[in-house]
Amino acid sequence: GTTLGASAAESGRYFGTAVAANKLSDSTYVGILNREFTMVTAENEMKIDATEPNQGQFSYGNADRIVSHAKGQGMRVRGHTLAWHSQQPGWMQNMSGSALRSAMLNHVTQVATHYKGQLYSWDVVNEAFADGSSGARRDSNLQRTGNDWIEAAFRAARSADPDTKLCYNDYNTDDWGQAKTQAVYNMVRDFKSRGVPIDCVGFQSHFNSGSPYPSSYRTTLSSFAALGVDVQITELDIAGASGTTYGNVTKDCLAVARCNGITVWGIRDSDSWRSGDSPLLFDGSGNKKAAYTSVLNAL
Ligand code: XIL
Repeated sequence: GTTLGASAAESGRYFGTAVAANKLSDSTYVGILNREFTMVTAENEMKIDATEPNQGQFSYGNADRIVSHAKGQGMRVRGHTLAWHSQQPGWMQNMSGSALRSAMLNHVTQVATHYKGQLYSWDVVNEAFADGSSGARRDSNLQRTGNDWIEAAFRAARSADPDTKLCYNDYNTDDWGQAKTQAVYNMVRDFKSRGVPIDCVGFQSHFNSGSPYPSSYRTTLSSFAALGVDVQITELDIAGASGTTYGNVTKDCLAVARCNGITVWGIRDSDSWRSGDSPLLFDGSGNKKAAYTSVLNAL
């Protein structure tokens, strides 16, 4: 293929990017988006603070603009994200206990219902595990509502939107030897054994010198897939954009049958949340970087 999307499709996969609604009027940005990508994730517009800024008042304008643009181009959409400790609206940050549990489940139900049948997947829960060697859950207001909050969120999402794939998404879960990776693996294994509805695991894969691309990455992807879930690379960016590393990440996904898609976290370096790292596949002018060619050749 001559584009990322077309080349990924040759093996039945998608190639996606994060999209910001306020850039849909930038013709260079939209030109690359429409040409190269077959999946879209809203960079911020489907997060809790965006979709429920006041409790019980839902706001879908920017998210719907992204979904509408994607559908108009024949692209699919990954929903991101229904339950997360971060980017909570102020009203939720100040809640706890059973009131917060109810508010979280209502949020999951309302937003999943709004998009029922329209999305490829939902990141139902994002970043619920702690970094470091503990293998513990991340402390958060949601975690303090009870250890079953994650499965409760997945069950609510399934009830509201039965045909959309439900994913758990996290970072620093790439190295098979790390406690956080093993903790997420054990949760997914437990969910599968008890029939908690989970279809996929997303590996954000924000690589930099502090959390580099690990040699065990392919083992991690294949080990999770062996639990009976799809795996996806959901927010890929690599500080410095080494072509070798981008190529290896791509090859690792293609080596795992259930790794069915790769999403990069933005289009041009200037669009990146870490623009100082120049971590993406296109430069600030929209030109293809060497890393682009490495990915295309690996697909
Ligand atoms: C980031 C966005 O890219 C930024 O624009 C925003 O300010 C903060 O969030 N993990 C995730 C993403 O799951 O939602 C985050 O996106 C990056 C880390």
